[in-house]
Amino acid sequence: MKEKEIIKKYRKDDFAIVWKPKLCIHSAICVKELPEVYNPNEKPWIKQENASVEALKAQIAKCPSGALAYEIENQKQEKEDTAMEDTKVVLRKNGPLLVHGNLEVTDAEGNTEKKERITAFCRCGASENKPYCDGAHNSVGFEG
Ligand code: SF4
Ligand code: FES
Repeated sequence: MKEKEIIKKYRKDDFAIVWKPKLCIHSAICVKELPEVYNPNEKPWIKQENASVEALKAQIAKCPSGALAYEIENQKQEKEDTAMEDTKVVLRKNGPLLVHGNLEVTDAEGNTEKKERITAFCRCGASENKPYCDGAHNSVGFEG
């Protein structure tokens, strides 16, 4: 049975960072790029008021898992970011298989789920959220 998706929003004025923890593959790219915004040792761990909207958008586009997105005035991420593009598959060293593009994923029971923008699939076998990566490849020391 599918677990309910957890979605957290960090809002300031009309801009909100949307974080889906189940999708995070713990690449720490956000922490390296904007440490003044993303600090896992603090609560809340995202402080969007510490960077400009443009800087936040540019960084969110680099999140390799799709765990980060944004909303403006209760609208979903701008169309250009979710528009259908050619599907691209990228293997992340010692990590997941990243599929770029909009997807429909059907599990063994026939349940279908829509995925947008980018989806990280587990290659190490240790994820507790299969078929998706949950960052467990780091703790099991997956190589490949
Ligand atoms: S996957 Fe995205 S949200 Fe998770 S640590 Fe990496 S950049 Fe941050
Ligand atoms: S590849 Fe990330 S949890 Fe398996």
